[in-house]
Amino acid sequence: MLAAHVDMLHKAALSNPIENVRHVSSLAMSQKRAIIRHTSMRMAAYENERPGAVGLSHAWPSRRSAETVRLGDAIGKAASAGDIVALAGDLGAGKTTLVQGIGRGLGLDPRDIVSPTFTIVAEHAGGRMMLYHLDVYRLGSADDLQDLGFDDYLHASDGLIVIEWANLVTLALPDDRLEIEIAAGPKSGERQIHAQPLGPTSAKLLNRILDILP
Ligand SMILES: Nc1ncnc2c1ncn2[C@@H]1O[C@H](COP(=O)(O)OP(=O)(O)OP(=O)(O)O)[C@@H](O)[C@H]1O
Ligand SMILES: [Mg+2]
Repeated sequence: MLAAHVDMLHKAALSNPIENVRHVSSLAMSQKRAIIRHTSMRMAAYENERPGAVGLSHAWPSRRSAETVRLGDAIGKAASAGDIVALAGDLGAGKTTLVQGIGRGLGLDPRDIVSPTFTIVAEHAGGRMMLYHLDVYRLGSADDLQDLGFDDYLHASDGLIVIEWANLVTLALPDDRLEIEIAAGPKSGERQIHAQPLGPTSAKLLNRILDILP
């Protein structure tokens, strides 16, 4: 019940979840407070991460999905085992499209990569290293993260970890990660893809990506 409403909130508007939950009349006051606390905590954590940014950041324009795939391909080629890529961006922004490119860069068939929205995690073997593709959009609570073995994935040393909707679980993420945000541009099909490393390992990853795709 709580999980379903948290999910609904995320869907409705990440920009103003507190107002949204106040207007869900079917919920008891205590439930509303719990959801507001839960969501505010996640959002505050996301905001607080910004000052921790290290190294240069970079933005690439993308005019069509093939360009997003090409950037993903560079990320897949540049990645080292244990790297963590945390993706943010609205529904349909192009997160999975980017992961398809990442898969291609790792030597996987991009057609095998789809949003693991219901399974939360998809493990892809057969490339130059494992690809752990997570989509935490439908996670309702911190308990769900534990049930999933989220921490084990984050510390996997044999592959690249890519998390869609990572901004919803910032508190559970390691500090050193490459945050990539995909935002819609002014015209249909246009995206702005911004990468920000939050530690030395992710800063090196960004440098290797820039060697491939300046
Ligand atoms: N420049 C672009 N980059 C990426 N995708 C684009 C671009 N232009 C158009 N698209 C289209 O936008 C859609 C992006 O869908 P995708 O599943 O990758 O988004 P998502 O961010 O993973 O969504 P969700 O939050 O539902 O998982 C695709 O249909 C893709 O073809
Ligand atoms: Mg997706």
